[in-house]
Amino acid sequence: MQWLKAVDESLYVDASANAASSNRMERFVNRNKTVRSLFSLMLLWAAICSMILLAGYWIERTWLRNMTQSQTAIAYYDQHAATLADSYEAVDFAHAYPFLVDRLQAGGLSILDIGAGTGRDAGWLADRGHSVVAVEPSEGMRNLAKRLHPHSGIVWVPAQLPSLEHQALPDSHFDFVLANAVWMHVPPESRPDALARIGALLKPNSSAIVSLRIGPADPQRGMYSVDPSEFVQQAMDAGFDVTPRGDFPDVLGRAEVSWKVYELIAAN
Ligand SMILES: C[S@@+](CC[C@H](N)C(=O)[O-])C[C@H]1O[C@@H](n2cnc3c(N)ncnc32)[C@H](O)[C@@H]1O
Repeated sequence: MQWLKAVDESLYVDASANAASSNRMERFVNRNKTVRSLFSLMLLWAAICSMILLAGYWIERTWLRNMTQSQTAIAYYDQHAATLADSYEAVDFAHAYPFLVDRLQAGGLSILDIGAGTGRDAGWLADRGHSVVAVEPSEGMRNLAKRLHPHSGIVWVPAQLPSLEHQALPDSHFDFVLANAVWMHVPPESRPDALARIGALLKPNSSAIVSLRIGPADPQRGMYSVDPSEFVQQAMDAGFDVTPRGDFPDVLGRAEVSWKVYELIAAN
C-alpha cells in the first residue's frame, strides 16, 4: 500500500504491527502482542461459533427430527383414530395371525401388546383369559380402545418404543410380546434400543412377534422404511433367536403394502 501513501498521505493508515505513530491509541492497537492477541481471540470466537452451529445441526438432524417424526405419527393416530378404527376392527384376530390362534387359545399368560391401536388384539387375548398390558402412545386411540374393549384384563399404558417406560412394564415380566404394525414408527437408530427393551421385558425363553411393513413409507404418518435383513441382524445382536413366521398380504387390502412377520425368542 506504499503507492497510496505516495499518492495521498492523508488516505493512508499504517496498521502494521508496531507502526510508528504519535497517537497512543494507535500505538497500542498496532503493538505486535495486541495484534496477535486480537487475532487469536477472533479465531477462538470463530471456532466457538462453528462448534455451536455444528451442535445445532446435529441436534436438529437426529433428536429433533426423530421427536418430530414420532410426534407426527402419534398426532396422526390421534386425529384419525375413529376412521382407522373402522378398518382395524373389521379384521379378525385369526385372520391377522393364523399362526398364533392355537397357541394363545388357552389363557393364563402375561402378554404385552405394543402399539395396541384400537385394542382389537388386546381384546381377543383378554377374552381368552390372558393378562394384557396394552401400550399405546396415542391418547385418541387409547380412549377409543377402552370404549371398544372395556375388559378388566387389559391395562392401558401411555408409553412408546424404544423406551417403554412405565411402572406397569417391569423387567422379565411378560410371557409373550406382540408388536404388530408398529416397527415402521420406530426411528432406525432407536431400533437396537427398542429390541433390547423388548428383550428385557420378556421372561427367559419367551418370545415376541414383530411384523415389518414392506412398502412405501407414508411420511404423513411419521413412518420410516424397514429393512428385514437389517432387522434380523439387529435382533440377533440383541440376543434373540429369530424365526421367520411368514410373508402376508396387507389385511387392510393395500396392494402396495405387505408384511413380514418374525418371532424373536429371548435366548437367556
Ligand atoms: C398401524 S397401528 C397398529 C395398531 C395395532 N397393533 C393393530 O395391529 O391393529 C400402529 C400403532 O402404533 C402406535 N405407535 C406409533 N408409534 C409408536 C411407538 N414408537 N411405540 C409404540 N406404539 C407406537 C400408533 O399410535 C398406532 O396405534
